Amino acid sequence: MIVVTGATGQLGRLVIEELAGRVPASQIVAAVRSPEKAADLAERGIQVREADYDRPATLGPAFEGAAKILLISGSEVGKRVDQHKAVVDAAKAAGVELLAYTSIPHADTTPLGLATEHKATEEHIRASGLPFTFLRNGWYHENYLPAARLAVRSGVIAGSARDGRIASAARADFAAAAATVLTTEGHKDAVYELTGDVAWSMPELAALVAELSGAQVEYRDLPVAEYAKVLEANGLPAPVAAMFAQTDADIADGWLGDTPGELSRLIGRPTTPLRDTLAESLKNG
Ligand SMILES: NC(=O)c1ccc[n+]([C@@H]2O[C@H](COP(=O)([O-])OP(=O)(O)OC[C@H]3O[C@@H](n4cnc5c(N)ncnc54)[C@H](OP(=O)(O)O)[C@@H]3O)[C@@H](O)[C@H]2O)c1
Repeated sequence: MIVVTGATGQLGRLVIEELAGRVPASQIVAAVRSPEKAADLAERGIQVREADYDRPATLGPAFEGAAKILLISGSEVGKRVDQHKAVVDAAKAAGVELLAYTSIPHADTTPLGLATEHKATEEHIRASGLPFTFLRNGWYHENYLPAARLAVRSGVIAGSARDGRIASAARADFAAAAATVLTTEGHKDAVYELTGDVAWSMPELAALVAELSGAQVEYRDLPVAEYAKVLEANGLPAPVAAMFAQTDADIADGWLGDTPGELSRLIGRPTTPLRDTLAESLKNG
């Protein structure tokens, strides 16, 4: 039995689709916070079980009979260490043969603010003694779609990343890598740095949006504090805006730019170009 937590999220749904193409539906468990959101999966014969990271009592039953578990990191920044620990402890109690975890590039050394909880989770997994795979997922192409769509109207993409490079990849490629790890052997205690094959810069992104949309689009680089104000004005809480702006500064320093090729090796094909994801999104408005 292969269990995927967070299976109603954007990545989780893609992992379930990948698994459904590789193993019988009855072997897949969608472990979700809100089972009613997964009714479509249940209809296809996928087992849907409640698994709320905030309610450890749900996790034991959700992991019953599991051979492999994919822990998809939660989305509530600040709460995730305790949430993930609860999942790891339940996986340990279930005696699984592999726990895969969606982490962040260079979790153990990166200065990225978002990495703190991933680092703590990786440490807890190592300390548990469970066989593990760390899927250190780089940035999603999709993170940049809202800014790209907005830029078609405003003519500007703002940031603080200067000409730092971003080796992003499509969510679907990360999902394919997770499915590979869950359905093939040889991934015990592996740490995969997963990125797109090609790294790009914000000025290149602006040029690509301009080319694909026909609009005039430029990249405007701002000091970190100023970019944080822009993000705040767009509705992000001040601490989150500050963290995202600082992340851009870390991008300028090269922390999300390396291209080790591990994602394409795992999925057995080149990663999806940014251009394809962007073109699809801009076509749909
Ligand atoms: N690499 C990147 O660029 C990037 C970008 C954004 C996020 N991430 C990380 O990668 C994860 C997956 O990405 P995504 O795009 O699939 O994010 P997403 O669409 O926001 O999905 C997050 C998933 O986490 C589940 N979740 C949140 N809190 C939970 C809880 N207390 N108990 C159980 N499940 C809980 C959500 O459940 P519901 O469906 O019930 O809401 C959802 O299924 C994110 O959660 C985040 O940690 C990475």
